[in-house]
Amino acid sequence: MEIKVRRIRNPKELPDDSQLGFGRIFTDHMFNMDYTRQKGWHNPRVEGYRAISMDPATMVLHYGQTIFEGLKAYRTDKGKIQLFRPDRNVARLNRSAKVVCIPEIDEAFVLEAITRLVQVEQKWVPSAPETSLYIRPTVVAMDPYLGVRPSDTYRFFIILSPVGAYYPEGFNPVKIWVTDQYVRAVRGGLGEAKTAANYAASLYGAEVAKKAGYTQVLWLDAIERRYIEEVGTMNILFVINGELITPPLNGSILPGITRDSVLTLARHWGIPVAERAIAIDEIITAHKNGALQEVFGSGTAAVISPVSHLAWKGDVITVGTGGVGPLAQKFYQAITDIQYGRTEDPFGWVVPVE
Ligand SMILES: Cc1ncc(COP(=O)(O)O)c(C=O)c1O
Repeated sequence: MEIKVRRIRNPKELPDDSQLGFGRIFTDHMFNMDYTRQKGWHNPRVEGYRAISMDPATMVLHYGQTIFEGLKAYRTDKGKIQLFRPDRNVARLNRSAKVVCIPEIDEAFVLEAITRLVQVEQKWVPSAPETSLYIRPTVVAMDPYLGVRPSDTYRFFIILSPVGAYYPEGFNPVKIWVTDQYVRAVRGGLGEAKTAANYAASLYGAEVAKKAGYTQVLWLDAIERRYIEEVGTMNILFVINGELITPPLNGSILPGITRDSVLTLARHWGIPVAERAIAIDEIITAHKNGALQEVFGSGTAAVISPVSHLAWKGDVITVGTGGVGPLAQKFYQAITDIQYGRTEDPFGWVVPVE
């Protein structure tokens, strides 16, 4: 399929790199493509960023049949633009699609669409340290119909948003609230898919955590309410007695690309790694024994997010010294060095946008 490019006549003024936050500013163009049963995916095009007109009965508005992805384009010191493991995002998009009955999209073609759009918008990739262009591919169910069933028509779009440095003043360790009252996802449900319902399910618990003075929620499993799953919208990792431990991908956890990058680096460096079920009681015991060295989240937005405190059942524990652990620091540095082309990429993770 050929991607038609219709450039707009009046591009916006570029924002100042120092003014960038997250997800409020969008570029001049977007990618759009449609799906019908008869034609399959068709009419791929890059065109002006614009509103999507929807019938009030459009299925995505009622039943949330939608999936999305999140990745970034980085500008290197030499001014080149590169993506980080975009094949993983595209593969995950299709795994999410399957979970909510959305028709698959050819993975090589999605990668081509992302690359084409970023090429058209290359001047929007900021160059100040640790800034990037966030890429949001999304699929939404478009049938105007109130019956509950998978839609017959879809829109696939990609929008771009220049984003600022996540840590403009250096690492900022966060305080986390552990809850067995609210759950994000259950095995057999949608947890491993990047779909709207998971984020809707996380809002109330996250608000309660914020009101109690915490940045985010540590989610436990929905059945026994003991086993650790994720932190906010990130995967979670622990360092206990020198071992890096993270919950296994059991169906209710999003398979994070940063998580996989951290584990790959750890194995490469010879750090012992375990992907296993880990209960909150084990963390509390490890803390009591002085074995809990580090806790941190991993995700595209922050890369690594160190956790300084965990609140559980009325107690608040301080992780290590409450500062940034050496491994959190080392993973952050190694991953961002590869993303921004400051170092060799021994894993073939980086894809240049020429
Ligand atoms: C629920 C959830 N878990 C984990 C992650 C981390 O995934 P990744 O490292 O691919 O960004 C994300 C962010 O995409 C997320 O939304």
